[in-house]
Amino acid sequence: MTAPNLTVKDLSVAIEGKEILKGFNIEVKGGEIHAIMGPNGTGKSTLASALMGHPKYEVTDGEVSFNGKDLLEMEVDERAREGLFLAMQYPSEISGITTADFLRSAINSKRGEGNEISLMKFIRQLDKKMEILEMDEKYSQRYLNEGFSGGEKKRNEILQLLMTEPKIAILDEIDSGLDIDALKVVANGVNAMRSPEFGCLIITHYQRLLNYITPDFVHVMMQGRIVKSGGPELAARLEAEGYDWIKEELGIEDETVGQKA
Ligand SMILES: Nc1ncnc2c1ncn2[C@@H]1O[C@H](COP(=O)(O)OP(=O)(O)OP(=O)(O)O)[C@@H](O)[C@H]1O
Ligand SMILES: [Mg+2]
Repeated sequence: MTAPNLTVKDLSVAIEGKEILKGFNIEVKGGEIHAIMGPNGTGKSTLASALMGHPKYEVTDGEVSFNGKDLLEMEVDERAREGLFLAMQYPSEISGITTADFLRSAINSKRGEGNEISLMKFIRQLDKKMEILEMDEKYSQRYLNEGFSGGEKKRNEILQLLMTEPKIAILDEIDSGLDIDALKVVANGVNAMRSPEFGCLIITHYQRLLNYITPDFVHVMMQGRIVKSGGPELAARLEAEGYDWIKEELGIEDETVGQKA
């Protein structure tokens, strides 16, 4: 198996005619964990949505290649089948479909017709992964995210990650709303995925998560692009000093995007 690779080159994205991402660049390879940090409203979730192919987000410039293929030419479900995964900042609730059914159909759509996972094997895997995440079995029989607490939803996103075994995952604020124990559990889940066959992009506001999942690279996003990159020490400095020093260093006054008409 070749190592996965997601390369984003000079990506610009607009929503309803407003430019949000402006010349965004990153390369995520198998075995690597990247963290993206940055003030509110700087385009982090927009990046995640655009890469997954959300129809509202219009790519106005740039290129994205995923395992050597043109990602922007792929349909949304094709992106998932190729092994791209997004854990959303605000996971949606789907009434009428249980978490287990959802997971099984997600796995099967990747495996393709005639190659479906057996029920026994599916249940074995589900049990194993739910154990890693210290989730009670009953959640698998509840409708997807319906009535789940904030933290339960986040755990459920990581359950999807562990069950579908993507090649590249984007985790958008997977730590928000988690208590300290849940944070460790979620970090364990992500760490369990670590391998040369898996690359990860973690969007977070807090150094805290990065104490449990050590990133190889830390990037700071402002004005719809990466303005500074470094190692884990960069996250530690942000935690201690905030973002003002970067803004000063780069002469940035307003770090947000899409505010002006
Ligand atoms: N679907 C949308 N419709 C209208 N505006 C949008 C949409 N998605 C994003 N925006 C705007 O784009 C800008 C960037 O939003 P985005 O969600 O990417 O920020 P973020 O960096 O993820 O912020 P946060 O840290 O608060 O999650 C914001 O001004 C936001 O209002
Ligand atoms: Mg966001």
